[in-house]
Amino acid sequence: MIILGIESSCDETGVALYDTDRGLLSHQLHSQIAMHAAYGGVVPELASRDHVQRLTPLIEAVLRESVCSLSMVDAIAVTEGPGLGGALLVGRSVAAGLGIALNKPVVGIHHLEGHLLSPLLSPLLSAPRPDFPFVALLVSGGHTQLMAVRAVGQYELLGETVDDAAGEAFDKTATLLGLGYPGGPALSKLAESGDANKFSLPKPMINSGDLDFSFSGLKTAVMNEATKLAAAGSEDARTRADLAAAFEVSVVAVLVNKCMRALTATGMSRLVVSGGVGANARLRRELATAVGKNRAEVFFPPLDLCTDNGAMIAFAAALRFGAIPGVAEKQLSFGVRPRWPLAHVSV
Ligand code: KG4
Ligand code: ZN
Repeated sequence: MIILGIESSCDETGVALYDTDRGLLSHQLHSQIAMHAAYGGVVPELASRDHVQRLTPLIEAVLRESVCSLSMVDAIAVTEGPGLGGALLVGRSVAAGLGIALNKPVVGIHHLEGHLLSPLLSPLLSAPRPDFPFVALLVSGGHTQLMAVRAVGQYELLGETVDDAAGEAFDKTATLLGLGYPGGPALSKLAESGDANKFSLPKPMINSGDLDFSFSGLKTAVMNEATKLAAAGSEDARTRADLAAAFEVSVVAVLVNKCMRALTATGMSRLVVSGGVGANARLRRELATAVGKNRAEVFFPPLDLCTDNGAMIAFAAALRFGAIPGVAEKQLSFGVRPRWPLAHVSV
């Protein structure tokens, strides 16, 4: 089967073609980051309008790159939620329109299901892929969750953030330190040259005994330190780098600690990391060390599949078609689900 995947839940337009025999044929992405940067965050209406402009050219581009025609597409997979309502509607409408025109099934996919299955989609056939079951850490701008994944469609929520997502905390802290939007990668770069020991920041909920997270207090702690430095006139590039490093060390310590607890609690030995913050180099390094000590394994998606993309949506649909008889029957819907807990997705 050749599946066309469409992602438009937030500020990235992603389109991909996935062949269940040959793997990923092509994936193309347009990021709206530059457009939203001037506003310091995503402007939903601008996001929707931009998706309208980008989707058709991106679909044409993936068809061209994979030397396929629309008539060769067997099914269309589209992000149904969660995400920005208007942005989701653009992808959903294009998918439904194609489904009607081509007389092909359209399948709505949960955005986080796409993220958490993406480490199984390595374009390099030689790269190791995790088997089920595994613990998944989803760390993006909108979500921070630990899930037990027993099979396609069997997701149990183990813990999640009670306030900000980890990526959101990175972005907001980066803004406090005068970095641009989205600040995660910039803050991480700044942290490389900083000394984390210069500040003592909290590691929120590290000893809470459960698998939940909290990051908004940490962001406030950074703000308090930055305010003190500014008042004392001692804020400079060096102290900003130290503060960035201390922040990153705290976030990573909490994430690593909870991942290890989740492995122990479930008795599982495989950890899969996905979502934009999964690109963070310190997180990758420290998780690799921690699982090594615990005789477990950790898997990351390729860097370009860590952030939002159409490939993970096409791939999640391919796994669903394989796992669930009849799921590829014709479904036509224009409905989207801006709020949709992943644990509600089942086979
Ligand atoms: O998965 P994603 O593309 O979008 C959502 O679904 O939210 O994740 C984007 C988030 C942003 O908050 C961004 O700052 C963060 O991932 N991010 C990083 C890094 N690269 C992206 N955070 C920390 N370190 C990075 N290297
Ligand atoms: Zn995402």
